[in-house]
Amino acid sequence: MRVIVTKNYEEMSKKVAQLIAAQLLLKPNSVLGLATGSTPIGAYKNLIDMHKALELDFSKAYSINLDEYVGLSEESDQSYRYFMNENLFNHININKDNTYVPNGLELDEKKACSNYDAILEKLGGIDIQLLGIGHNGHIGFNEPSDSFSVGTNCVALAQSTIDANARFFSSIDEVPRKAYTMGMAGIMQAKTVVIAASGQAKADIVKQAIYGKVSPEVPASILQLHANCIFVLDEAAASKL
Ligand code: PGA
Repeated sequence: MRVIVTKNYEEMSKKVAQLIAAQLLLKPNSVLGLATGSTPIGAYKNLIDMHKALELDFSKAYSINLDEYVGLSEESDQSYRYFMNENLFNHININKDNTYVPNGLELDEKKACSNYDAILEKLGGIDIQLLGIGHNGHIGFNEPSDSFSVGTNCVALAQSTIDANARFFSSIDEVPRKAYTMGMAGIMQAKTVVIAASGQAKADIVKQAIYGKVSPEVPASILQLHANCIFVLDEAAASKL
C-alpha cells in the first residue's frame, strides 16, 4: 500500500486525476472503475480539463461504476448514472455505450446483480478502480457487516449513509433505502486501486482502514491486502496517521 498526502482537496484531486490519466495513456482501452460522491468531483474536473487541454483520449476506454440506488432511473438527478453523465461523461469523448452503472430500475435483485457481474466479467476486470470512503468505512455501498460481500449485491443502506447522503436530496425521506453495489471481488481484482479522502471528518476512518484490523466491520480495511493500492489523502484526512 502507498499513502500519498497532498496539501488540500485541489491537490488531492489533481493527483487522483494524474493516476487515472497515466493509466489511460499507457493503455487507451483501459477499464476505469469509477465512483460517485463529493470526493471524486474535483478529480473528474481535472480529467475534463486534461481532455480539453491535452487531448486526453477516452474514446477507447470503458468504465464501470461501483453502485446505484435501487429505484432511481438515469433521468433522476439523484441517480449515479445522472451524476456520472453530468460530472464526467458529457464532457469527455468516452462512448457512453461503453460506460456501465448498475440498473437501478431492475427490481429483480438477483437479476440486477448477476447482470452486473456478467458485465464485469466480459470487460475482463478493472484496470484502475477509484474509491471514496464512507464515514463508516464503506467502499462502494459495501456497508459494515459480519462478512465481506463477494459479487455485486443489493444492500440496505446503513442509517449513517442515509444521513450522510440526505444532503443531496430535498428531504431525508427521499433517500433510497437500498442500492446495488459491486462486491469486494470486483474491487479487489482491480489491478490498481486508488482510494481518495479529504477533510478532517474522514481522519478517524482513514486511520482505521490503514492501520486497523482487516475486518468487514471496516470494509475499506480489506485494501490492506491489495497488491497495488494507493491512498490519496489531503492533510486533514491524513491528520490521524
Ligand atoms: P463522499 O462519499 O465522497 O461524498 O464523502 C464517499 C463514500 O460514501 O464512499
